[in-house]
Amino acid sequence: MLPIRISISTKLRETAVTAVLFVALLCLASLCLSGTAQAQDDDYEFGVLFDAPGVSETYYNCIACHSEKIVAQQGQTREGWVYLLEWMVEEQGMPVIEEPDYSIIIDYLSTHYNTDRPNFPKR
Ligand code: HEC
Repeated sequence: MLPIRISISTKLRETAVTAVLFVALLCLASLCLSGTAQAQDDDYEFGVLFDAPGVSETYYNCIACHSEKIVAQQGQTREGWVYLLEWMVEEQGMPVIEEPDYSIIIDYLSTHYNTDRPNFPKR
């Protein structure tokens, strides 16, 4: 009787140790991964703006007068953004943005900052 009980509990202990080691490894791995993500965040130039094609055109044309956060907190349809940029030119003195930048920016904004605000609040 006794030897069998010992062998079962030894087996259990081995399983437990393996499980603990496995969890510890997982924790270490996720620490490393989040460390890498952090390093990338520090290199990111475009503030809170969503990382996608058009982000640099948008960022550099729009932060001349205000934070990019004012852009990121808006959700507009494509027409809404067109209207807002007209308003920015007519009422706020923004220089007219020439093509192809204008279309790139409108595409970027209406994709990533539409009325469902897929990237709000991001970062
Ligand atoms: C020439 C300066 C200037 C530039 C360049 C500029 N803006 Fe603005 N923007 C303003 C000013 C000034 C306000 C604040 C107006 C107010 O609240 O009275 C503003 C406000 C805003 C707002 C908030 C509107 C609201 O309803 O509160 C958004 C969104 C915005 N800008 C988007 C942009 C985007 C996108 C760009 C780049 C394409 C841009 N702006 C570039 C001057 C500028």
